[in-house]
Amino acid sequence: SWRPTAFVAEAVERVRQQVGPDERVICALSGGVDSAVAALLIHRAIGERLICIFVDNGLLRLGEAEQVIATFREHVHVPLVAVDAREEFLAALEGVADPERKRKIIGEKFIRIFEREARSLGDVRFLAQGTLYPDVIESRAPDRTKGVTIKTHHNVGGLPADMQMKLVEPLRYLFKDEVRAAGLELGLPEDWVWRHPFPGPGLAVRVIGPVSFARLETLRQADAIFLAELRAAGLYRATQQAFAVLLPVQSVGVMGDERTYADTLALRAITTEDYMTADWARLPHELLATISSRIVNEVPGVNRVVYDLSSKPPATIEWE
Ligand code: XMP
Repeated sequence: SWRPTAFVAEAVERVRQQVGPDERVICALSGGVDSAVAALLIHRAIGERLICIFVDNGLLRLGEAEQVIATFREHVHVPLVAVDAREEFLAALEGVADPERKRKIIGEKFIRIFEREARSLGDVRFLAQGTLYPDVIESRAPDRTKGVTIKTHHNVGGLPADMQMKLVEPLRYLFKDEVRAAGLELGLPEDWVWRHPFPGPGLAVRVIGPVSFARLETLRQADAIFLAELRAAGLYRATQQAFAVLLPVQSVGVMGDERTYADTLALRAITTEDYMTADWARLPHELLATISSRIVNEVPGVNRVVYDLSSKPPATIEWE
């Protein structure tokens, strides 16, 4: 049977052999489980010859960038280059409503920034990726299926050919549950290990229509309330993905004696085995009531909350 301790020891040895005694490795951290576990493993193998790069694109959840930076620098002691690219991404997305154009812009921007950072480090010949076994076997699957799209941004396929880097993929033969076990073994905090997947284009595909800083902030606040209440109810791990979506729909409401005309927020929570099909999560009504009233009371500009009752297919998990 598969044991995390033995896996980590063997994987560390393999990385040492592949990279050798003098070379450096760069790694893009996304905030997700896979890239974090890959980074921790490689760090254990070659120490500070691993350089982690974290690009804050401004499309992350509330407090997430700070959490990535603090966890790596202070908790697991892995050095990290943090790039604040929030304004650059926002400027590139201005006025863009089409979801696939958003994805393309974000993907290209990421590659350009990552390449710029990598070049500034001089001659680095290895690039680490948190590729898992299912990504390997599904690598010919069409877009927007699990694995392929999840990896789009960090895929060497998307990096300029002239970077000529060799891939270090220590998780290439692992399944997700094994990656989680390895992460715990390597000291990754428990709540990070169990994080729901998060799309590379981030909140840009959860603000339906054009993205602005104000709309991202509204979504971030509502999303944080949703996830905090889900965790407090002990149901975070009962759903495989849960998030808020800001709709381009205003509706009439009433607050005190005032008529309001404000935004609608959708809550999405799903259960799934493989993200190829999914059902909407039967969250308790009382929990939904708490979340809804907290959001309309605490998030300015939102006067209505709806719960998404769609399965995949025919809907997708994301709205864009
Ligand atoms: P859908 O919406 O296609 O999502 O049912 C299936 C899974 O893939 C994630 N997803 C993405 N991940 N880049 C990513 O890295 C993307 O462009 C993207 N689109 C969807 C989604 O969050 C879900 O887990």
